Amino acid sequence: MTRVVYVNGQYTPYAQAGIHAEDRGFQFGDAVYEVMEVKAGQLVDETRHMARLDRSLKELRIAPPMTLAAWSRVLRETVRRNRVHDGLVYLQVSRGARPRDFLFPGPDVRPTVVCVARSASKAKADAQAEKGIAVITQPDIRWGRCDIKTVMLLPASLAKETAKAQGAKEAWFVDDDGFVTEGASSNAWIIDKDGRLITRKTDAHILPGITRQVVLDMIEKEKLELVIRPFTVAEAKAAREAFITSATNHVMPVVSIDGAPVGNGAPGLLAQKLRNGYYLSAEISSH
Ligand code: PDD
Repeated sequence: MTRVVYVNGQYTPYAQAGIHAEDRGFQFGDAVYEVMEVKAGQLVDETRHMARLDRSLKELRIAPPMTLAAWSRVLRETVRRNRVHDGLVYLQVSRGARPRDFLFPGPDVRPTVVCVARSASKAKADAQAEKGIAVITQPDIRWGRCDIKTVMLLPASLAKETAKAQGAKEAWFVDDDGFVTEGASSNAWIIDKDGRLITRKTDAHILPGITRQVVLDMIEKEKLELVIRPFTVAEAKAAREAFITSATNHVMPVVSIDGAPVGNGAPGLLAQKLRNGYYLSAEISSH
């Protein structure tokens, strides 16, 4: 089967799909994106992901190039044409292309829209969750608006490379005061010795994760104890459990931080429970 990519209104075979050489996403990182899970051919948490895309576009003053209904059609058609049963769909919108200039182009320049869908093994992710993942910590060298989901992902890419070189799956960014901000592509959580779930508030320093919000809803429903506050690396190492959340990982237990085991070094029970309950709280849309 030939994979196809949606680019500016056309579904093009993967190898032939391309965008302009002077696209601002390419030259300035002037683009935003979303990653959504596809489960049994359906989109998970589409409403919230699209609301966040809308906010990201507004923050960068990029006029939304299509309506919510049109986005929805593009997402579904890309998933359908690529026959993705379980996997993810990636949507990127840049400010568009024109000869290189720091200043924004006028309204005549149309945003560039790209949508890609691909399969991912659910069994592989579940096997990973049964073992848990190792994380390392890295200084947070990103910019001051991490709440906007832009494609400026070089610090995340560098941090993940460092993590991989050390046998870890994710890097946790740490701010100048020693507090964990978030993962390179996930939100960070710990559970203290008293069973309290701890995660930091959303502000300009982290992405307001959709999965984080679904887990917060579960916590409220289950009447679990929650403390919204930042935590230090030392606290995380001394925690009973730790985990990350993201659209591609759901709830993924963290079993070591910088080589030190978290709890007994095995995935925690509460993290596993939240993982198992995820689809009960997520929105799965068929439209
Ligand atoms: N990343 N924080 C950062 C920096 C992220 O890049 C992501 C997601 C998250 C979690 O957000 P959500 O729960 O909405 O997926 C937090 C995606 C998966 C990615 O870049 O591939």
